[in-house]
Amino acid sequence: MSDNATLEYKGEKYDFPVIKGTEDELAIDIKTLRSLTTMTTLDPGYKNTGSCESAITFLDGEKGILRYRGYSIEELAEKADFLEVAYLLIFGELPNKEQLDAFHHDIIEESTVDEEMKKILDAFPKSAHPMGVLSSLTSALIAFNPTTVDVSSEKAMYYAIVRILAKFPILVAWTMRKKKGLPLDYGDDSLGYVENIHKMMFKRPNKEYKKNQIVIDALDKLLILHADHEQNCSTSTVRIVGSSHAGLFASLSAGISALWGPLHGGANQAVLEMLQAIEEDGGDTKKYMAKAKDKNDPFRLMGFGHRVYKNFDPRAKIIKKAADEVLGDLGIEDPILEIAKGLEKEALEDQYFVDRKLYPNVDFYSGIIYRALGIPTEMFTVMFALGRLPGWIAQWREMRLRNEPIGRPRQLYIGENSRPFVTVAKR
Ligand code: ACO
Repeated sequence: MSDNATLEYKGEKYDFPVIKGTEDELAIDIKTLRSLTTMTTLDPGYKNTGSCESAITFLDGEKGILRYRGYSIEELAEKADFLEVAYLLIFGELPNKEQLDAFHHDIIEESTVDEEMKKILDAFPKSAHPMGVLSSLTSALIAFNPTTVDVSSEKAMYYAIVRILAKFPILVAWTMRKKKGLPLDYGDDSLGYVENIHKMMFKRPNKEYKKNQIVIDALDKLLILHADHEQNCSTSTVRIVGSSHAGLFASLSAGISALWGPLHGGANQAVLEMLQAIEEDGGDTKKYMAKAKDKNDPFRLMGFGHRVYKNFDPRAKIIKKAADEVLGDLGIEDPILEIAKGLEKEALEDQYFVDRKLYPNVDFYSGIIYRALGIPTEMFTVMFALGRLPGWIAQWREMRLRNEPIGRPRQLYIGENSRPFVTVAKR
């Protein structure tokens, strides 16, 4: 027998089942609330509202735990590669060798985009932000792959999935190459998934591409760490757009736009710009700490704080260590890494940050690694999108397979009551 939670209002009692997740999390199932009471709930920012049941990612923000399909993020970042993690997230289990090879093969089969897409990219000014370009190109892909819209069978879903996993890295690479004035090219299907992405982004027309294992491993790790994070802003966007039965690519395009904002994925660009500004301003971290705490100053310490983590973001711990290792291995000394470490130390000892449980999040150190890998600052959020792609796909697929209803929140109307129309001459 399930537990109930009772709501009492004006002498009437209403029972709602309390349901338990596999990690003993409790939720009050209020599906019948409106029909029983005529009331809705009000929860701006959905701070207390679960939008779905999901078997993909578990996170405990108090304890700083993150797991994909039951596997800890620490172990996956250490032992798995990005394509394995993508398969795990999307299909629920780690692939065996044959499954992984078949998956990679199917992706390779789709690893071109229609040449006409270059004309669309060409129409953007070079100054366009890469996230806007990427979102538009992802949407434009639908026109060249119309069968990806009506995905009513698992087989049709599978082909939409391998298509986007194949084509998205090409769009990412082209977006960066256009910005840098480099020719648009394709990858090399004989390479691993992540190595191929790196080659597509960085291959120079007049030079042979040489693999750097430190760089590929760092990229692989960053992509894994960004691969999913349950019902965050962009993922919820993907699910809600997909719930109208818009196709996968349209849902992803909306997710990319949601990720762009500086309060979400755009924070990685904002962090690096902030660290650079502090450096140019003489490196006075105390001044910026004071600004972050001043309620009359809109400045926030970017890369700090999280809606769910009220403890260390486990991804930030891994990325901080990786930043030290990658910069060390590549022989790079970056003064902004020291500024970041100084800011972190001060914030962790500062009462304002302690009281509000504000810790470094995934974006605090990631930009420092991207910079060391030669990725331009404006491309940081694009790299986040590349990593998040399997998570968005997994969440979209789960939502479709569970046949979830269209997402459509309620509101509490606080506007004018009914009033007669007044003609313009009389207003
Ligand atoms: N710097 C200074 N103060 C902060 C910061 C920060 N980075 N983050 C939160 N606070 C303060 C708020 O001012 C507020 O203080 P108050 O209680 O005195 O009013 C309190 O901490 C709670 O903050 P909220 O904004 O209510 O928390 P919320 O859960 O809505 O926001 C968010 C979380 C958006 C991540 C916020 O911490 C933030 O803006 N951080 C900086 C941007 C950032 O790094 N975003 C990336 C998040 S990770 C990701 O999306 C991949």
